[in-house]
Amino acid sequence: MNRLKAALQYFQYYIKSNTKHAIHPPFAYTLLTEVILDRKFKQAYTLPEIIRKEMLKNKLSIEIEDLGAGSINNFKKNRNIKNIAKYSLKSPKYAQLIYRLAKHFQPNNIIEIGTSLGITSVYLAQAIPNGKVITIEGCRKTAAIAQQNFNNHHIANIEIANKNFDEALPLILNNLNKVEFVFFDGNHRKEPTLNYFNLCLQNASNDSVFVFDDIHWSEEMDEAWKCIQQNESVTLTLDLHFLGIVFFKKELSKQNFLIRF
Ligand SMILES: C[S@@+](CC[C@H](N)C(=O)[O-])C[C@H]1O[C@@H](n2cnc3c(N)ncnc32)[C@H](O)[C@@H]1O
Repeated sequence: MNRLKAALQYFQYYIKSNTKHAIHPPFAYTLLTEVILDRKFKQAYTLPEIIRKEMLKNKLSIEIEDLGAGSINNFKKNRNIKNIAKYSLKSPKYAQLIYRLAKHFQPNNIIEIGTSLGITSVYLAQAIPNGKVITIEGCRKTAAIAQQNFNNHHIANIEIANKNFDEALPLILNNLNKVEFVFFDGNHRKEPTLNYFNLCLQNASNDSVFVFDDIHWSEEMDEAWKCIQQNESVTLTLDLHFLGIVFFKKELSKQNFLIRF
């Protein structure tokens, strides 16, 4: 999607999106006011942002195995760690939102599809200190840097699966009875996104929460997001433009809210 089209789409989202005053169902309203729009600083934000700063200063170049739809700024095979940190990670605003969602729902386990340098993995791990984050990264060198970050900062509740998503996800799902919280943040194309969604859906329950990154990154991702919304198991969806949140609660009526975030 070209930049002009992306900017126009964001403008349309901004005009059409709702503030908290337009959201009525109690579940969505509470989530919006107490979790999504909670702008207060949390101590747990400190450590992942220290690691991000370290990564932004790191001039080391690593060889990237590109296994998915790369970022717009990713043309080279070799990339500096500082460039990965600058262009390929969730910004603090969205990473902190993902932290708050995980902290609020307190799943026992979280699957993260796309580790990169491990910044959002650390946010998620801090949200569930007694639970476990299983994060998947296919690129060997990138996964090694993420593991180094976890070791250097003594974060023990993250396990990296250094494999292609297609290979790792079925193995992980086989070992978990139920999927409670999934963050989909890699290979932003329609078919793979829907494949990962359908795989995770098989182990989902009424209380599962799926968070999708970059739902409007491309026309393919727009289409994937529409299919997810229309899936019969999905009830409530929240569209924050750069992030989509999916619920399966049968007690909620099927609705999609555009949220101004
Ligand atoms: C956007 S980055 C993840 C960013 C990270 N969640 C954060 O914000 O801190 C996506 C990662 O997924 C990995 N990836 C993409 N497609 C993949 C695939 N098919 N199998 C395994 N890893 C893949 C890429 O190597 C990249 O590091």
